[in-house]
Parts: sequence; C-alpha cells; structure tokens
Amino acid sequence: MNFQLNEEQVMFVDMVRKFCQKEIAPIAGKSDSEHLFPSETLKKLAELGLMGVSIPEEYGGSGGDYFTYILLIEELAKVCASTAVIVSVHTGLGCMSILHFGTEEQKQKYLAPLAAGEKLGAYALTEPNAGSDAASLQLSAVDKGDHFVLNGSKIWITNASQADVFITFVRSEAGSKGAQGVTCLIVERDTPGLTISKPVEKMGLNASHTCELFFDHVVVPKENVLGEVGQGFKVAMQLLDGGRIAIGAQGLGIAEGAFEYAAGYIKERQQFGKSIAANQGIQWMVADMATEIDAAKLLVYRAASLKTEGQPHGKEASMAKRYATDTAMRVTTDCVQLLGGYGYSKEYPVERYMRDAKITQIYEGTNQIQRLVIARHLLR
Ligand code: CAA
Repeated sequence: MNFQLNEEQVMFVDMVRKFCQKEIAPIAGKSDSEHLFPSETLKKLAELGLMGVSIPEEYGGSGGDYFTYILLIEELAKVCASTAVIVSVHTGLGCMSILHFGTEEQKQKYLAPLAAGEKLGAYALTEPNAGSDAASLQLSAVDKGDHFVLNGSKIWITNASQADVFITFVRSEAGSKGAQGVTCLIVERDTPGLTISKPVEKMGLNASHTCELFFDHVVVPKENVLGEVGQGFKVAMQLLDGGRIAIGAQGLGIAEGAFEYAAGYIKERQQFGKSIAANQGIQWMVADMATEIDAAKLLVYRAASLKTEGQPHGKEASMAKRYATDTAMRVTTDCVQLLGGYGYSKEYPVERYMRDAKITQIYEGTNQIQRLVIARHLLR
C-alpha cells in the first residue's frame, strides 16, 4: 500500500482546502456559538459536487472513489467538525446505504437528489434503550401487506433537523430478538405521524443538529425496504464499517486543525524572554502529538484504501476510528494546554476543537465497542 497521495488527490485536497479556508473557517466559530446549521455551506459544497463525491455520476454524484471521500472529511474536520459529520452522515450512511442496498427505482428516486445535494440524508439506528446494543432496537413496524406501520422513537439522530430522508432501522417481526427481525426502511421526512424534536443541547458539535424522532402510526410502503426484510441489522453494521473510517478521518482532521493552530501559537508566544516553543517540555508535547497524528493518518488511510479496493475492512475501520478519535481528544486537550488561559477562552478556536473531539470517541460506536469489534475479528 502506498499512502502517498497521487497528483489527482493532491489537486483535490488543494481545492477543498482553499474552499474550507474561504467559506468555512471564517464562520466556524460563529456557527458553533450560535448553533447555526451550515445550510449555505452545504449548498456551496453541492455546487462543487462534494455532497456525493463517492457516488457514481449516473446517480447524481461526482464519481470519485471512497478514498477521495475520506480526504474530503479530513479536510472539512480541520476547520469545522460539525460540517464534517453532516457530510459524513449524509454521504457515508445516507447515500451509500441506497447505493449499496437500494433497487434501481430507489436509486433514481432517492439517491440521485441526495448525491446531488438537493436533499439531505440521515441514519436512524439508535434508540433511548438501544445505544451500544443496537440489536435491541424496538421501533415497531407492523406488516400490513403492502406497507408497514411504525410506532416508537429514535434518538441522537444527526442531521435530523434538516434531513429529507431517514435511513431507519425497525423491528419488523413482533417478538423477535436481537439482530433477527430488523429491517431497514427509507422514511421520508414529511410522512404523516413523524415528528422531529428540537436539536438537543450538546457539549460541542453545535452546528450539527442532533434530534429525536417520534413515530406515531407512520405508514411506510414496502417499496421503501432497503435490502431484504429481516436483514436490516447486517445493513446497519456494513454501513458502520465504512462510517467508522469517516469518523476516524474526522478525528484525524480535528487533531490536525488544532495542532496546526497551536504549533503557530507557541512559536509566537513569548514568555521568560523567549518563544515558549524553545522549551523542551513543549517540544516533547509537539513531538508526541505529531507522531500520534501520523499514526492515526496511516490507520485511517489503510482502512480507506482497503474499502476503496473492495477488501474486508471492518477490523481496520474500528482500529482507525478508535485510534484517530482518541488521538483527537489527546491532541486537542494538549493544544488547549499549550495556549494556556487563551486556550480555555472562546476567543481562540482550540477549545471548540476539544469539545468537538469528545463526541468522536462516542458516536458510530463508542471506542469501547470498537475494541469489542476488533477483538472479535482477532479471536474468531
Ligand atoms: N457486517 C455484516 N454483518 C455483520 C457485521 C458487519 N460488520 N457485524 C455483525 N454482523 C452480523 C453478524 O454476522 C450476525 O449475523 P448472523 O446472525 O447471521 O450470524 C448479526 O449481524 C449479529 O451480529 P452480532 O452477534 O455480532 O451482534 P451483536 O448484537 O453482538 O452487536 C455490535 C454487535 C458490534 C456490538 C453492534 O451492536 C454495534 O456496532 N454497536 C454499536 C452501535 C453503533 O455503532 N451505533 C452507531 C449509531 S449511528 C451514529 O452514531 C451516526 C452519527 O450520528 C454520527
């Protein structure tokens, strides 16, 4: 495996970086403090073909590969982790679910507008009593012949405040337990009986809106089944195998963004008559951070390469997610420390990076669940 970016990838990263510096970096702080969903930014990303970068052109995307999509998430997270997760859930879980499991009709009807960025996607798996134990989900879908009737709720749903399409996991076999009897459905936002809560107040990632969904006799036609009835849990897990690489890329980008800022700061900041970067204690922190960021990058790029080549990648995705997001937390915490009182102040961006880093250790499977997945791969 060669992790040196090729000419085309370098050009892509350069284009995205310029876009991020011009369009996202100047508003990222305000979007966080005022909890503003970045709708205008998403429109501009769509104009550049970046809302469906890894989706084939025939389905409204840009025809790039999975690795290119991972590079996009990394670059977005360097300036705004909220924008990165919005795009990641939309593309990696929303679009890719239909690309991999959808019928031709579903691709034309749902994937094409999603990949073009005309519509936004969300992924509804988690419930109040089914978090790490996703297979215990209870959202009931009663079979009524040509449709299902849904009753129950979902929680922590990224993009829910704006999403048009929810990839929703339901229990379609009454009395079934665990992974058996779970089905994946495409649910449209304006379906009668579906209510979406106000965004939940969170520690960080404030421009990404996270809501609860309530289903009260929501009718979903059978033609909206994604994959096969009763096989939805495998759909959920396969999607998360890819999704976790993107969260690794998000953690990597957060760490890189904070590090870049702090490295610039310590060279400028004078104390005791010299730049604080001249102190060995600071230099060791810098060396450790840079080493961990590089290790995270290699793990994320390895997992992304495997997925791009169509190779098994579940273990490597979990390793990348676990390590890169732990790195994001460690590095951002150290960056706040390097800036001292300024680091703790909202006048400087590093505290936002630190707050945003925390959730990456939790969502798309906590890092404890990643260890469980890795160990199961190693020991089976
Ligand atoms: N690919 C395909 N199939 C898979 C699979 C995978 N990666 N992992 C499991 N399966 C299959 C198994 O083969 C098994 O099938 P059979 O019954 O035919 O043998 C079935 O699924 C059940 O598997 P397990 O027995 O391993 O299931 P489990 O109940 O022990 O759970 C788990 C496994 C890994 C703990 C899983 O529940 C899990 O990943 N939990 C974390 C949940 C999570 O990541 N949530 C993320 C929410 S989305 C989100 O966060 C998005 C966002 O907002 C940013």
